[in-house]
Amino acid sequence: MAIARRNVRDFGGKNKYVYCRDVQFLPASLNKGQAGNVPTAQYIRIVTQLSILSQFKEYLSQHQPSLYRGAKDASLALQSLLTRRSVQEIVFTRIYRGGGWKAEETASGVGSSLVNTANIRNRLETFLKKYSIQTLLDIPCGDFHWMQHVDVGRTKYIGGEIVRGLVDRNNRLYRSENRSFLHFDILTSRLPEVDAILCRDCLSHLPLQDIVRALENIRTSTAAFLITSTYLECTENQDISMGKFRRINLMREPFFLSAPVETWEDFDGQYADKVLAVWKLTDLPFPAS
Ligand SMILES: C[S@@+](CC[C@H](N)C(=O)[O-])C[C@H]1O[C@@H](n2cnc3c(N)ncnc32)[C@H](O)[C@@H]1O
Repeated sequence: MAIARRNVRDFGGKNKYVYCRDVQFLPASLNKGQAGNVPTAQYIRIVTQLSILSQFKEYLSQHQPSLYRGAKDASLALQSLLTRRSVQEIVFTRIYRGGGWKAEETASGVGSSLVNTANIRNRLETFLKKYSIQTLLDIPCGDFHWMQHVDVGRTKYIGGEIVRGLVDRNNRLYRSENRSFLHFDILTSRLPEVDAILCRDCLSHLPLQDIVRALENIRTSTAAFLITSTYLECTENQDISMGKFRRINLMREPFFLSAPVETWEDFDGQYADKVLAVWKLTDLPFPAS
């Protein structure tokens, strides 16, 4: 039975299955360029099992959400134990590899396109000069897409990322005398001695508890400034599972940061209240006393 490409519909999205009228549910990756091939019985069996598993997962997530979350957490914990990687690393590596935030220009979403970062690039250049910043830690640096267009002058740049594939890629493409990329987890890694830490579009993807851990970790560094994303009109900080997104306001419960020293408009094409805000590290109420 041949798989004609015209009979294949890609549903994209979450489970990345394609529906083929002639055969079964086929994973998109296996189907690429397969037009005209005859799938073997074993192949169809695997694919059918995958499909049943995916439908079961979908059923569980809709009808037994807490059971589903528990099973997901347990599976992540097991994977973390077996691979000796943190759950954070597993989740964000999966998002990166699966193209979860892939946009036309960058792996970090449309908010990181050159058009959408024009203002913050400008403001960052001014900031580096104004405060004579010698060293900047950009964590997370993602794929270094917009940042490569910032004129950092003589400032030493360190990009930190939890996804090793991005660190290797960035070092291969962009490493220079004044610029390097390191594998860091903003929650747990001992951060290098720098003058300022930039943390754009990261905390809004973390559960509340992890945001607190990140802020506590940042607070232990020697940096004078933290520049990070916040949403000024957001009135309530909701909890999410790791890797999802919601707006956060760092001046609201449970973070209670004071008013920032500067805010830079960071309109990402979606949220008009999004800014990069600059805090003095000494103003951060972390760790909680
Ligand atoms: C939406 S991207 C933003 C990247 C970059 N700051 C930008 O503006 O384009 C979020 C990045 O955070 C990274 N990340 C998530 N959790 C992290 C953690 N605990 N430590 C370091 N990086 C993390 C992800 O791997 C991803 O590359």
